[in-house]
Amino acid sequence: MPVSQSPSETSPDSLSGTRVLLIISGGIAAYKSLDLIRRLRARGARVRPVMTAGAQAFVTPLAVGALAADKVFTELFSREDEQDVGHIRLARDCDLVLVAPATANIMAKMAQGLTDDLASTILLATDRPVLLAPAMNPKMWSHPATRRNRETLAGDGIGFVGPGLGEMAESGERGEGRMAEPLEIVAAVEARLAKTQPTSLPGSGPTGPLSGRRAIVTSGPTHEPIDPVRYIANRSSGRQGHAIAAALARLGAEVTLVSGPVTLADPKGVTVVRVQTAVEMRDAVLAALPADIAVMVAAVADWRVADVAGGKIKKAPGEDPPPLQLTENPDILKTVGHHAQRPRLVVGFAAETDDTVDNGRLKLARKGADFIVANDVSAGSGVAGGVMGGTRNRVTVIGRDSEESWPELDKGMVAERLAALIAARLG
Ligand code: CTP
Repeated sequence: MPVSQSPSETSPDSLSGTRVLLIISGGIAAYKSLDLIRRLRARGARVRPVMTAGAQAFVTPLAVGALAADKVFTELFSREDEQDVGHIRLARDCDLVLVAPATANIMAKMAQGLTDDLASTILLATDRPVLLAPAMNPKMWSHPATRRNRETLAGDGIGFVGPGLGEMAESGERGEGRMAEPLEIVAAVEARLAKTQPTSLPGSGPTGPLSGRRAIVTSGPTHEPIDPVRYIANRSSGRQGHAIAAALARLGAEVTLVSGPVTLADPKGVTVVRVQTAVEMRDAVLAALPADIAVMVAAVADWRVADVAGGKIKKAPGEDPPPLQLTENPDILKTVGHHAQRPRLVVGFAAETDDTVDNGRLKLARKGADFIVANDVSAGSGVAGGVMGGTRNRVTVIGRDSEESWPELDKGMVAERLAALIAARLG
C-alpha cells in the first residue's frame, strides 16, 4: 500500500477549476516560475500571471504568457488593462494569490502595506489567501529585517512555502534562501486551497474528511522537576505537534492537544490541555480516550528524578555534587498502542541520531503503532536550523508494510501531508 503521494504523484486534476493569480517578482528564481506555471496548469489550474518590472529583467512576459496561455499583467496605470480587468478585480478574481519567487523587497512592501506597482497593489487589495515562495540570498533571508517582515506576514495569515537550503544560482553561496521546487509549491497550493474549503454551520466545526473523528495529539517537551526551581528538559519546541493538531482540525477532526511547556499560541479550533511532566501527559492522554486517532509527537523525557526535593537543593563548599537518581517515565505511545481502547490509528514519532529508519521500524513494533514518523535529529542531519527547535523537518514515514521518505519541508507541510495520510487511511 502506498503510504502517501509524493509531490510528483499528485492527482492530475487536483486543481481543476481553480484560478491562481501568480505574481512573479524579480529574482533569478523567476526562471523556475515557467516550470511552476506548467505544473499548475497540468493539474487543472488557470494561471493568470502578473510580473513586476524586476521579474521582466529575468524572464520575458512573452514566455510567461505563452506557458500560461493567458494575458500577462505588468502595469498599474495601463488604461487598456484597467478598463479591461482592473487591479481590484485582478486581486479578487482568483482563488489564491501565489507570489513565486517572492523577493525580500516584495515581502518588505507587503509587511508595510506599500503599493507602488501592480503586484504590491494587488497584494494589498486582495481578500483571497496569499502564499509566498521566498527566494533570496541567504544573508538577505536571515537578516533581522526580513525575519521581522516574515513574522509580520505570518501573523497576517500569509502562507509560506520554503525557502530551502541550497546553492544560490548567482553567487554559488550555500544557505537557506533557495526557492522551493515547483512541485513543492504545487503541493502547498493544494494544501492552502483545501484549507479554504467552505465550513459547515457556525459552531458545528469544519466539515472535512475527518469530521466526526476524535484525535489526540501530544506535543512539546516535558519538564521533569529536580527541585522547586530546576528541571530536566529537552529542545523540543512543539512546532511539529501543534502543526499536526491544527492540520487534523482543519480536516474536520475534534482534536485534543496535550501539550508540554511551549511558547506557541494554541492552534485554532483545538482543545488544549497543558501539562508539565510525562506522568501528567500520560494521565491527560488516557483521560481523552476514546479516540479514533492518536498522534504522539511529544519529546517525552524518558526519565524523571526519583525523589524530587521539596526545597531548593543548596551547594555546600567542598561537598560533591548531589547524585541524581532517575526512574523511568511511562511510555505514553506504548500505553496507547496496547490499550483496551486503542484508537484505530496510532502514529508515533522517532527522534533518532543514528540508523533512523532501522530504529524507527523497531519502535513501530515495540510500541504497537501503525506508523512511525522517523526523523534524524542529529546536528549533521542537514536540515536548516536543526530539526529539534527548528522550523523544518525531513522525515521517513514507516508503516507496517511501507516506507516513504519525504523531502525536507516546513513543519506545517509535514503536518498537512500527515493529516492527509491519516484521512486517507481512515477512509
Ligand atoms: N514516547 C512516549 N512516551 C515516552 C517516550 C516516548 O509517548 N515516555 C513517544 C514519543 O512521543 C514518540 C515515540 O514515543 O512518538 C518515540 O519517542 P523517542 O524519544 O524517539 O523514543 P523512545 O521510546 O524514548 O526511545 P529512545 O529514546 O531509546 O530512542
